[in-house]
Amino acid sequence: MNWTAGQILFFLVAGGKVPSVKHSIPTLKCPNLEMGFRLQAALKMSVKIISFTVLTAILMWSIDVSSVPETHLIVPLQQEEAPFEDSSTSKDNDKKLEYHPIYHKKNHAKKDAHEIPCLINGNSFISCRKTTSGAIYLPWNFLYEYFEVSGWEESNGTFCFQHSYATVQKLKPVYKPSSSFMNFGGFNVGRRDRVRCITATEGVPLTTQWNEAGYHYPIQVAQYGLSHHAKSEMVGEPRQEILEDGEGTKDGAPGPWIVHKKAENSGLSLAQDSETSMNVLQFKTSDSLSAPGIFMPVQDHNLSCLSMDIKFASNGSVSVLVIVSNGARVRIHYIQSDTLIVSDSDQSNIYYGLGKQRTGAWIHLARDLSLDVLKGIKLREQLESKEKKEWMLTKVLEIRLRGQGMLDNLKLKSDVHKDQFFYTADWFVRHQDEKGGWPIPCPRKLIGTAVLQPGWYSAMGQGQALSVLARAFFMTGHQPYLDAAARGLWLFDVDSSQGGVKAVFFDRYVWYEEYPTQPSSFVLNGFIYSLLGVYDFKEVAQGKEKLVAERIYQAGMTSLKAMLMMFDSGVGTLYDLRHVVIGMEPNRARWDYHTTHIELLMQLAIIDGDPIFKKTHKRWQRYLKGQWARHN
Ligand SMILES: *[C@@H]1O[C@H](CO)[C@@H](O)[C@H](O)[C@H]1NC(C)=O
Ligand SMILES: *[C@@H]1O[C@H](CO)[C@@H](O)[C@H](O)[C@H]1NC(C)=O
Ligand SMILES: *[C@@H]1O[C@H](CO)[C@@H](O)[C@H](O)[C@H]1NC(C)=O
Repeated sequence: MNWTAGQILFFLVAGGKVPSVKHSIPTLKCPNLEMGFRLQAALKMSVKIISFTVLTAILMWSIDVSSVPETHLIVPLQQEEAPFEDSSTSKDNDKKLEYHPIYHKKNHAKKDAHEIPCLINGNSFISCRKTTSGAIYLPWNFLYEYFEVSGWEESNGTFCFQHSYATVQKLKPVYKPSSSFMNFGGFNVGRRDRVRCITATEGVPLTTQWNEAGYHYPIQVAQYGLSHHAKSEMVGEPRQEILEDGEGTKDGAPGPWIVHKKAENSGLSLAQDSETSMNVLQFKTSDSLSAPGIFMPVQDHNLSCLSMDIKFASNGSVSVLVIVSNGARVRIHYIQSDTLIVSDSDQSNIYYGLGKQRTGAWIHLARDLSLDVLKGIKLREQLESKEKKEWMLTKVLEIRLRGQGMLDNLKLKSDVHKDQFFYTADWFVRHQDEKGGWPIPCPRKLIGTAVLQPGWYSAMGQGQALSVLARAFFMTGHQPYLDAAARGLWLFDVDSSQGGVKAVFFDRYVWYEEYPTQPSSFVLNGFIYSLLGVYDFKEVAQGKEKLVAERIYQAGMTSLKAMLMMFDSGVGTLYDLRHVVIGMEPNRARWDYHTTHIELLMQLAIIDGDPIFKKTHKRWQRYLKGQWARHN
């Protein structure tokens, strides 16, 4: 038996017993939603005592000589009182734990221990260790899988143990449907690996999650928009540098553009656009990407986003030359094509399609150039985090125009969050169908239910769209946003069996289905997101539409309050109610969904004073630390 360096053992004093946690490998693959996967952010050591007579300790074990620090025997725990408080009366999330350093390197050297077989629940053996003092050690790599817990070694040699790998994010104490949506400011939707790119045609993410060809997933689009809305609110107005505004320099000349000597029939001038009466830069040169075009070198700065208004009169393009952290120069071309993204094999040129034939109308182009570079590199493969660092944009070097047209408001900016948000809101207005829905073009199957055929609607997609549109309307007063949101409600009143999103639990409680499956699945998080969307809309709506939204919202809240406890397993939460509906095994929410459930209840507790939300999210927080509900 080779104990490799750094294997970590979980120690149980003789006489203690392994807490009897039923170990079941989840066999149900839940659809991975558009939630961030929050990993091991919290470093706070927090250990729960599992059994009254048990002292537990975590220690480092290393047999081979290696760089791993040898023994840091730090955290035996002790608890005298009854192991579980009644969770409903417990005031504090964290019980005070006493930490007694009882083992030390000196009296607990590795040679002190020998291997013994360890029989796991009567059917398999693993190799354990026993010291001369009688202490038994189980290998950590067994324990963490067996008990589904987390642990890692800090650089200072401390081993940190946690039941949960996910952490709960804080929310603002007040919820306003006009301001940041929950904690979405922390999401980086565009950077997720399954997002192929942010299209230049419409400025929204294209996902490859369920279809390699790429498609727009309304939930992801909404979350992208809401995250940029929240980021914009967090950082305030971006820093910016105006490179061209068509107003001319002091002596009435255009900005520092360079026209190549050999470029025939090329030129630029200041002019007025007859459509908008704005002063603009008019440019004329060859369309060809191999021609030098007209370019402007960019001064030293640290701005990585680009924004401009451009109107082409020919098949022109915009190219940006950037340098990335590994020293490579990359050209990003925004061209008139339907191909959304393509790159050269050596990644020196990345092409984003603006759509075919985008001549004759103003285009507002706002791009996060660092993201555009990243998505262009190794288009179909996922980048390692090391590679992501290598391909970070460090500087914009120049901007180049080709073809004929007009340009205005050319700026480099520290961010384009607002543009990214409005691209999203506009996408929802543009792509709503006659049922008021945003159909999903991929089939979906949840185990135990019939396949959702392409064209299905998600209550979560509808609801998150409402959250986007309500905010866009609040910021602009632009009626089409509000009208689209009002139509977005229609499907909430249509049964899932009829192509809508409404299900009814035991003929009594309406539920808005994230996946409107047959039979119904009753997914918790998607339902609450949909309710938040309806809430946002009802807060900005007026008249008849407000009343409709109120009715839909109240019916949903009544169901939620009545049904919430069905999702509580006493040690965690359940993702959906398929175990009730179709009798399959309960679908446990993995930790990041459990924390999502907690955050959603925290949000509802702020909106609705019913104590069920507060009481429940507090108990669910305790599950994160292994403090389970009382047993009989
Ligand atoms: C080591 O790091 C952990 C986590 O950052 C910290 O809580 C702990 O106090 C540190 N231990 C020592 C001995 O410095
Ligand atoms: C970028 O430049 C601005 C102004 O020169 C400066 O205030 C800011 O701290 C810089 N930011 C970074 C991340 O270097
Ligand atoms: C326009 O130019 C792009 C390259 O800039 C090219 O891919 C596309 O085919 C051209 N379209 C037409 C209609 O010529």
